[in-house]
Amino acid sequence: MAEIFGKPLVTQEVMRARIRELGMQISKDYQGKDLVVVGVLKGAYVFFADLVRVIQLPIQIDFLIAKGTKKVGRPPKTIKVWTALTEKIEERHVLLVEDIVDSGLTAQFLVSQLQKLKPASVAICTLLSKPANRKIEIEVQYVGFEVAPSYIVGYGLDFKQKYRNLPYLAQMNPERIQEGP
Ligand code: IMP
Ligand code: MG
Repeated sequence: MAEIFGKPLVTQEVMRARIRELGMQISKDYQGKDLVVVGVLKGAYVFFADLVRVIQLPIQIDFLIAKGTKKVGRPPKTIKVWTALTEKIEERHVLLVEDIVDSGLTAQFLVSQLQKLKPASVAICTLLSKPANRKIEIEVQYVGFEVAPSYIVGYGLDFKQKYRNLPYLAQMNPERIQEGP
């Protein structure tokens, strides 16, 4: 895969350092609070595993599977949530962990679904954000890296369900890859 994608967009060292900073900030902000960290599958799985290990609080973890019917570069038309939480979040603080906030529609939808369960608060932590692509206004409390609106794979992010296992983030050109490695 390294031959297809070339140099990392963010090196593993830079990534590790930034995630450690996020973990320290989250640990400070939620000190003494009852926190459930909710990973959005599949994309957030790698980031989630790294992030929770640098949060120095007795958190609980949970997962949602969300899938938007979406073409590359377009906002999702509908968003389906495939699993419910197993932990109760009523009157507890929730941190939703996303791989990337692009148009913002998925994150907004998930926050509105979680709000129905009456948590004490819901905040978003995303590894990547593409602010230039926002279709709605949404507050994202923790952002790993802001990126330009190009297509990114690796470190959990896919193109047609592939390349999630690339150990670093890389930029790709969907047209070139469609013809196929
Ligand atoms: P949004 O609803 O437009 O914010 O899109 C969020 C979802 O689209 C993310 O959780 C990703 O699954 C997917 N997505 C958006 N941009 C990219 C990208 O550059 N690479 C891989 N997936 C992406
Ligand atoms: Mg995805």
